[in-house]
Amino acid sequence: MIDLTRNEAQIEKNAKLCAQQDIILPTFAQMADPSLVPEKIKEELKGIGRDEVHSRNLFRVTWENEPVESGGGFTGINYLEIPPEITGVPARIIGLSGKYFPTGAHKVGAAYSCLVSTLVTGQFDPEKNKAVWPSTGNYCRGGAYISRLLSCKSIAILPEEMSKERFEWLKNMADETIATPGSESNVKEIFDKCHELNAEYGEGVFIFNQFDQMPNTLWHHEVTGPAFERVFKAEAGDRSRLAGICLSSGSGGTLGSGTYIKKNYPCAKVAVSEALQCPTLLNNGFGAHRIEGIGDKHVPWVHNVKDTDMVAAIDDEHTMRLLRLFNEPVGRDYLASRGVKDEVLKRLDWLGVSSICNMLTAVKMAKYYELTEDDVVMTVFTDSEAMYTSRLAELTAERGAYTRDDAVADYEMLQQLGIDSMLEFRYEDKKRVHNLKYYTWVEQQGKTYDEINAQWYDRDYWESVYAARDELDRMIVEFNNKVESYR
Ligand SMILES: Cc1ncc(COP(=O)(O)O)c(C=O)c1O
Repeated sequence: MIDLTRNEAQIEKNAKLCAQQDIILPTFAQMADPSLVPEKIKEELKGIGRDEVHSRNLFRVTWENEPVESGGGFTGINYLEIPPEITGVPARIIGLSGKYFPTGAHKVGAAYSCLVSTLVTGQFDPEKNKAVWPSTGNYCRGGAYISRLLSCKSIAILPEEMSKERFEWLKNMADETIATPGSESNVKEIFDKCHELNAEYGEGVFIFNQFDQMPNTLWHHEVTGPAFERVFKAEAGDRSRLAGICLSSGSGGTLGSGTYIKKNYPCAKVAVSEALQCPTLLNNGFGAHRIEGIGDKHVPWVHNVKDTDMVAAIDDEHTMRLLRLFNEPVGRDYLASRGVKDEVLKRLDWLGVSSICNMLTAVKMAKYYELTEDDVVMTVFTDSEAMYTSRLAELTAERGAYTRDDAVADYEMLQQLGIDSMLEFRYEDKKRVHNLKYYTWVEQQGKTYDEINAQWYDRDYWESVYAARDELDRMIVEFNNKVESYR
């Protein structure tokens, strides 16, 4: 649940601090629809770089940023349709691109949502609390960035084996970066570090645990869900059907957009993907894998499992091979020879590793349900190749330069992708996955027995999470008014 308990004295202090730093907070309504952003702010953005540490960039926490480095306005949702020449299926597969968010990943939205709800309620004290961002990379990058824009101190926590780009980026942004043992799926070690920090610093730290913070999923329900809907409406022909949403689960936050879509398009299926090497949702499995950002050997608290219809486990080797096919010049030449148009080729670097995983899930869903050209399957491209350039170099060092033979083999692999390692959830499968939450969250992380049951049995539980948006927006507007009065 989202705690909106107010600390009036601290709200006043926070508003004064924001006035000193010239901070104005965007509402959820503005992030979902930047046409609501005041003209004066749009004017200011013309002189500001997209990744610059400038508080006005809070208004760029939206899917609609103009795809330019600096000075961009809001020119509509960035998305890319992956054509049948690549996917091998007639269904239309469309991904929203996270590349043009500040930080280059949509996770900055979840981070803003978590911090803003504690700032406007006065639960967070920027002078006393350091914001702690436990993550496998993009969320702590987003958290460190949002902290800087809000003049707060930050600690980023991520596993030591995450990509170099993530660590490089954090060097200049986070006040402190802590590398925990292991790779992508070692989230228990991150939780342990949070407990250590809590024990050592008490109120000196404020942990924004994306895996259990409901503002994370709220942001996607209120911002990503409507973005899917708008793109679908723009692309839909007379016979089009929104057949499905395919999303990998890291913190499970993005899946909130699936709930939004199911409410508005009840026939749409929601598929969740994970790595075949760590098939927790498929069969309670565990293991290390290379799809950075997803699949952490547990079921996140914020995952509304009842609204998930299917799981697909994706081989991480397939994602690495396609990363090469989509980005190596020889790979692109080969795709061009298969009829892929230049405007698609030049945007294939919009897909990072988990984005490729999402695309593969969409292809598997299209094959499983025998979807046609009337069907639209939507997904997100959370981050882009820019976060994995070092991985491409590692692959070259390990396997040699990419050749046309590699491209032919990788393309064929994609065409032959099967419907193995998938499970369409029956009621009892959903219950099994939900029940797995018990071991992480009730046994280890202090959640209550009542709440885990409420998540499953109380039909109002998830709706009351999403209903917090109106109250939060009201509080953000009120907070901005206070800030104005202190200027
Ligand atoms: C690259 C990447 N892909 C996918 C995800 C998963 O998104 P979510 O945490 O909303 O489930 C993340 C999360 O950090 C990520 O960094």
